[in-house]
Amino acid sequence: MENYFSINADYLPEDYSLEFPIFINSSVSKVTHFVKVVAPGTSLSRDQISSFVKKYSQLYLLEEDRHKFLDLAMKSKKLTTAQGVGLIQQNVGQHFSSMSNSENDPKLLAQLVDDCGQMVTHLVDVVETSKSLDDIKNLITQLSFHDHYTFDHSLNVSMYSIAFYKHLYPFIDKRELVLTGLSGLLHDLGKLFVSTAVINKPGDLSSEEFKIIQTHPTKGKEIFTKLIPMLGKEVDWNTVMEVMYQHHENYDGKGYPLGLKNEKINERAKICMLADIFDALTTKRSYNEAMTTEKALEIMYTLVGKKIDPQLFQRYANFASKPVNFKNANLSQTLDGNFDPSTPFNVLGLKPWDAKDAPILEKKSVLGKVHFREEEHSRSPINSRKKSA
Ligand SMILES: [Fe+2]
Ligand SMILES: [Fe+2]
Repeated sequence: MENYFSINADYLPEDYSLEFPIFINSSVSKVTHFVKVVAPGTSLSRDQISSFVKKYSQLYLLEEDRHKFLDLAMKSKKLTTAQGVGLIQQNVGQHFSSMSNSENDPKLLAQLVDDCGQMVTHLVDVVETSKSLDDIKNLITQLSFHDHYTFDHSLNVSMYSIAFYKHLYPFIDKRELVLTGLSGLLHDLGKLFVSTAVINKPGDLSSEEFKIIQTHPTKGKEIFTKLIPMLGKEVDWNTVMEVMYQHHENYDGKGYPLGLKNEKINERAKICMLADIFDALTTKRSYNEAMTTEKALEIMYTLVGKKIDPQLFQRYANFASKPVNFKNANLSQTLDGNFDPSTPFNVLGLKPWDAKDAPILEKKSVLGKVHFREEEHSRSPINSRKKSA
């Protein structure tokens, strides 16, 4: 049976030869029936589009034409940033649900992962101009990404990662931003194949359940290793896989799965971790109100030198639009070791913070907003780092 999805007709370009047919839903009682009202190759005027909407209220496309519609809609000059991200969000949601059903169909899974490359290319176009963490955070709030489900969370992490990477490397090639965004989007891929009963369990997790959650980086890597030969060659999928595998490694070497230390952890995996924690703290969850940017940065500051790389954190904190004076901040809580950023129905693992655990940063960096010399970080990583083959 064919699958259909509804579209916002405002995103259809006028006087443009459409590559796909358009349908209306004429289902009667329980019998589903879609009728083609526009054939491929048709051009519609704005008046025709409006009269269609008036007459039928909702227009539909075939699921297989989703990408063509997204490509076309993203080219529409009328789209606001929020509408653009909203469209991508619909696609990500649909792709993630198809991915979670395709573990035994590697060809389909590879196709869906390849499609994510296209989506992230559009995403880079809409978010790379974001000037601060709060630009992205406001966008996420505006789109009312309700809860902390894996696909919403993954899209958020992707957006924060792209924007922060652009802040670190202002003159970076677009391909590198797409790679960063893809790494963020797919970082929790392994979770799609871990028992949903555990992932979505409300309340505290037992140590066995926590161990199951902790398998997701390895699970993601296992799946991806088989997938890479089937994927398009224009993306450095090995880096995407490395981020997937390393995004729970800690700066101090106490993370998982390998316990890698600072310099052994891929920079994009560290960025992914920052975005992962920031999103978990600032998104409204079932049992927690969303934190402000400042509060979230204060909590993250307590993890500097443990989970979090001090240098990257300084850059991340500077990326917030309001400077945080960590010296005078009310540092009273920190995240406990059992915290995992993407367990949607869990209470955030916060515990009292002990001042004797104060992070050791350079003196100037604890006195508020610090200006770093841009040239240190704005070199292109294409030239400055060896790329994994
Ligand atoms: Fe994760
Ligand atoms: Fe995550």
